[in-house]
Amino acid sequence: MSDHYWESTRPGAGRREPRADSLSDARVISLNGTWRFRLSPTASGTGCDFLSDDFDDSAWDPMPVPSHWVLEEFTPLAGGARRRMLGTAEGPLYTNTAYPIPLDPPRITEANPTGDYRLVFHVPEDFGRAVLRFQGVDSCAKVWLNGEELGWSTGSRLPFEFDAPVRHGRNVLTVRVHRWSAGTYLEDQDMWWLPGIFRDVELIERPAGAIDDHFVHADFDHETGLGTLRVDASMDASVEIPELGIWMRTGETAEVPVEPWSAESPKLYRGSLRSEGEVVDLAIGFRRVEIIDGTFTVNGRAVTFRGVNRHEHDPLRGRALDVETMRRDIVLMKRANIDAVRTSHYPPHPEFLRLCDELGLWVVLENDLETHGFIYDGWEHNPPASPEWREALLDRLRRTVERDKNRPSIVIWSLANESMTGDAFGEMRRWLDEFDPSRPVLYERDPTYQDSDFYSVMYPSLEMLEMIGRREEPASGRIGMHGMMFDDAGDDGVEPDPVDARRRGLPFLLVEYAHAMGNGPGSLSDYWRVMREYDRICGGFVWEWIDHGFAAETPDGTPYVMHGQDVDYEPNGGRYSLHGLVFSDRTPTPGLAELAKAYAPLRIEVGEDAVVIRNDRHTASTADLRFTWTCDDGSDEPASGELDVPAIAAGESATIGLDTRAGLVTVSAALAADAAWAPAGHVLAWGQRAPRHPPVAPLPTPIGGVLVAASEVRLGDAVFDGRSGRLRMLGDVALDGPWLDLHRAPTENDRGQGDSNNIAKVWQQTGLDRMEHRTDAVRTGEGWFEATGRTAPSAHPHGVTWTMLWQQQGEGLELTVTADFVGPWANTPYMHRDIWVPRLGLLLGLPGEYSQVEWVGRGPGESYADSFEASPLGRYRSAIDDLQVPYPVPQENGNHVDTRMLRLSGDRMPVLQVEGRDVFDFTARRWTSKDLQAASRPHELVDSGRVWLNVDHRQLGLGSASVGPATPERYRIPREKTVWRVRISLEE
Ligand code: GAL
Repeated sequence: MSDHYWESTRPGAGRREPRADSLSDARVISLNGTWRFRLSPTASGTGCDFLSDDFDDSAWDPMPVPSHWVLEEFTPLAGGARRRMLGTAEGPLYTNTAYPIPLDPPRITEANPTGDYRLVFHVPEDFGRAVLRFQGVDSCAKVWLNGEELGWSTGSRLPFEFDAPVRHGRNVLTVRVHRWSAGTYLEDQDMWWLPGIFRDVELIERPAGAIDDHFVHADFDHETGLGTLRVDASMDASVEIPELGIWMRTGETAEVPVEPWSAESPKLYRGSLRSEGEVVDLAIGFRRVEIIDGTFTVNGRAVTFRGVNRHEHDPLRGRALDVETMRRDIVLMKRANIDAVRTSHYPPHPEFLRLCDELGLWVVLENDLETHGFIYDGWEHNPPASPEWREALLDRLRRTVERDKNRPSIVIWSLANESMTGDAFGEMRRWLDEFDPSRPVLYERDPTYQDSDFYSVMYPSLEMLEMIGRREEPASGRIGMHGMMFDDAGDDGVEPDPVDARRRGLPFLLVEYAHAMGNGPGSLSDYWRVMREYDRICGGFVWEWIDHGFAAETPDGTPYVMHGQDVDYEPNGGRYSLHGLVFSDRTPTPGLAELAKAYAPLRIEVGEDAVVIRNDRHTASTADLRFTWTCDDGSDEPASGELDVPAIAAGESATIGLDTRAGLVTVSAALAADAAWAPAGHVLAWGQRAPRHPPVAPLPTPIGGVLVAASEVRLGDAVFDGRSGRLRMLGDVALDGPWLDLHRAPTENDRGQGDSNNIAKVWQQTGLDRMEHRTDAVRTGEGWFEATGRTAPSAHPHGVTWTMLWQQQGEGLELTVTADFVGPWANTPYMHRDIWVPRLGLLLGLPGEYSQVEWVGRGPGESYADSFEASPLGRYRSAIDDLQVPYPVPQENGNHVDTRMLRLSGDRMPVLQVEGRDVFDFTARRWTSKDLQAASRPHELVDSGRVWLNVDHRQLGLGSASVGPATPERYRIPREKTVWRVRISLEE
């Protein structure tokens, strides 16, 4: 046992009771700003001198509050010049599951970087009784005011308050913050460890008769349309909601017709709670959250969350976000059709929730609790199962719920993330049942789900999700982490039947799915098709919203995005901190565009003579939307017009006549007027119908011909190498290739989550990234030229035999490729695995003067076999350089599936045109896939002097195997004899 407060399982001392976060007319002095700071190597800090009134802190570092000291400039522990610690073991550390301290709860190592903070502030003469509030300090703080100890607290993402006996005039506030504490054991979320006073510090006046706490109970009965309101408060006060004509006392109940609150229509009734001493703002949303017959409902209607998991992150400021950034997150989410947020894995800054109320997002509010690292002790001593931690765990839950209880956007409380099981969950649950029966409770990790109102797993496969939807999944406890079945999966049940029967009756909430690490995830629309189908599934939350990377610079000033691997430190979570739908600087990724399409709240199916529009919204009709059509018939000016659609009620559909036979028809639904989160014209949903392309007739197989003996062969405009069979010139354009290409620069998802699903490693072990090419025979005849050969890795017996047949057709060449997989590609003596082929295509080197592309196919962004639904068919143009997506870790990107025609152009270059027979995938970049694979930062990719064009039959889908199931078979490349054809020509 230790008698150090920072090693105590108690959550704190001296603090006030937790209470609701609220805005009022009470005066607030913000203590944010520049404080004085000194870092020490151990929990003793700088000693006690800094507490004294006249301590000279002028030699200490200035430190912004709020901030994380590890992201700021300060004097290092060892002394010397002030600098930033980014990239060093003194700086931000990233671990996924492991604790960065020895697993010896509740003790901490002696090395415990400790920041002493000091602030001198002034309080006006007329300032009354005061409370000092810290909105978030990571991980443990002890606080003194004018040398007097007020108390201490843990619980990094939770507020704590002290009664603050301030003096009029000059005051000195001193805070000692420890990087590690017993609280650390409860905060093992997958994220950077970022110590410091990182949320606001405020001095709040509490005049006599101030309202310390209040609890709004605002229910809505969807059958009568009546709202019921009661406001309880820590003292008697009046409740005034002018818009509803409500003037009553606290504790009284009013029943009035209201417009309910929902994420779509976040109607808030503003008013006030008035006592003699204070007027507190009320922003009331009426809604009823209920689980009815195993279906999660709000206001009587099933809710299917179109959700994301959100951490707080900023590439410069870590979790010290400003309000503008919070608003930006919500605006970006709403524009991407996201309507729900799980605050993984802690309560966010309270302002974020106020904005969710106002702009409309369903919120699953998660407690600040994760003990994942106890897995390294086989879950022995896990705090939720250890009585000595009980008070700390309940303290966290109470502070979470008390702070945010009045937010209508919060519809579910989540007890924790990945903290296994323990009696504490039962106690937390019971406290919640008592305190707030109006919201259901979620806890994903206990296989009995006894303390959860939802059944939930992470990262199930599509098949598993379907089984869950049908309530036919195996007994719980047989589904392991990430939705994978245990080997001995069966239906015999590991827990007594009543427990399993209860679980089976619960709604299912997909707490995490679709791991958005690097390029991907795939199958977003597939998941959503399953989720829409079953009322049991109340939606899901993509992992996750934002990459957690820091803005860093190389010594020569080149900017790059720093991730875990950039810190020489163990344990290390590596690159797993980069798994967001937006990059660290909030630039949307192609994954977000794909999600927006999957989450579209309307389905628009364009048929030959009619459009069917289905409104999948929760309650809102389509009255706020404008529908338009465009028809691209190949001319320069596509026709367009408005579609007259009556208001379609939620859950209903309408069929509108429209003749779509004239061309490529797209029907879109956009906001008719400005919304708080997007301007009029913002598109929510679209559907498309492409005219059928008449299939291109096969060419006759040439007969006869002779073996080539010459060094060059001409075929129309083309010159081929007589030995390798490769194209050298087309007109005046020097070309090189094509080579059969079976490789791609691995994506993060290709690298999987460990050796068991690292297909990139299989490619490397079986040589797919270093193929050798051999030409066996070159033949030519009247109007044709043909090369046959074999492409295979050194050291291995497997390979692909190929034939490339070129036939002159008018001004162009038709290229028919036949590829066949030979030798052992699965379960070979050297590799007991199946070798999934990442690509089956052609690589061609072009002169570097080519700089522009134009194509007919899907665009404008990248698309893959399992991630293309956000990319409408159309005609697109782009600079070749802009085809690349700057993933912070270079990897395959910039592909386009379903391409019918591609034209490359450049200064003084003839246009090179590739036409699909019928379609192909293309990528074009100034470096090869090998360069892309070798680079670890985008700036390491340099122009090779050529443009490398891939014209591919197919590429493997993206999947989301970096955490999650394998890419479904339909998105893989069958290893079978494959024939495909393209036409290549030049235009001056
Ligand atoms: C989940 C976890 C998240 C994150 C994710 C993988 O198991 O809850 O915090 O670690 O896996 O990126």
